[in-house]
Amino acid sequence: MLTINSASEMNALTKEARRAGKRVGLVPTMGALHQGHLSLVRAARSQSGMVVVSIFVNPTQFGPAEDFAKYPRSLGNDSALLAVEKADYVFAPSVEEMYPPGANTWVIVEGLSNMLDGRSRPGHFRGVTTVVAKLFNIVQPDAAFFGQKDAAQAAIIRRMVRDLNFDVDIVVCPIVREPDGVAMSSRNAYLSPAERKQATVLYRALMRVQMLADRGETDCAKLVAAAKQVIGEEPAVRLDYFEIVDPDTLEPLPGTSGGALVAVAAHVGSTRLIDNLMLYR
Ligand code: PAJ
Repeated sequence: MLTINSASEMNALTKEARRAGKRVGLVPTMGALHQGHLSLVRAARSQSGMVVVSIFVNPTQFGPAEDFAKYPRSLGNDSALLAVEKADYVFAPSVEEMYPPGANTWVIVEGLSNMLDGRSRPGHFRGVTTVVAKLFNIVQPDAAFFGQKDAAQAAIIRRMVRDLNFDVDIVVCPIVREPDGVAMSSRNAYLSPAERKQATVLYRALMRVQMLADRGETDCAKLVAAAKQVIGEEPAVRLDYFEIVDPDTLEPLPGTSGGALVAVAAHVGSTRLIDNLMLYR
């Protein structure tokens, strides 16, 4: 496995692989890898002749008061994990390589970028879509692998790919959880032991919705109220949103009968966590 820092070198390597008939799979990440990320790498490995994992803590998707500076960085450990998964290349550019002085072009999926996390994190999805578009242009993958953990991000990237005719298949992989249900996240490392326990309330709230839906409840207002009651039992957890939305448009739904995305975001201490669940029709 090789680590590449230069965009032009990365581009030349994947071009050559495609010319040799290999299918190129890209897994975009910000590093601090855990089993959730590695599940994407395994999916990519099973479907691609060449697997590229990008590791880039993307400054443009962090707000001024957010955790860009303290976001965990562990390139050595990440590379060791990726070698075990038989990734072919780690693409780890510097900020200057991705955003040379004067870089001032943005990719914005309007509307969708202001829903859910976009509402509480203005500019976040503009940073995500811009960096993912750049990664697609650099690597030119046949397929790119994302996690359902970031459901709004997946919907926005699918829309970007459709709207801009990117020639790449978007594969969305299931959420990988800790044994107590908490979705794996690089940000879980910020939680104190007490906060880590409190964080389980998000999964418990989602499970309450799943249980009520299994019993036939389809009214989103009732499902959201039940979930908010569960979250209220953990007063240390500050809810940002709990919404039931259309998985493609991210618009709130009155009922779940056509299939729905149940999405939650909350602050546990100073850490913002997200989680979700799909209700199928
Ligand atoms: P990051 O948070 O590092 O996540 C990289 C990918 O791993 C995303 O597609 C995310 O949905 C997926 N992922 C994270 N936790 C997961 C879990 N528990 N189960 C399954 N998949 C999981 O998302 C980003 O980075 C960035 O926004 C990025 C797309 C790289 C653009 O900078």
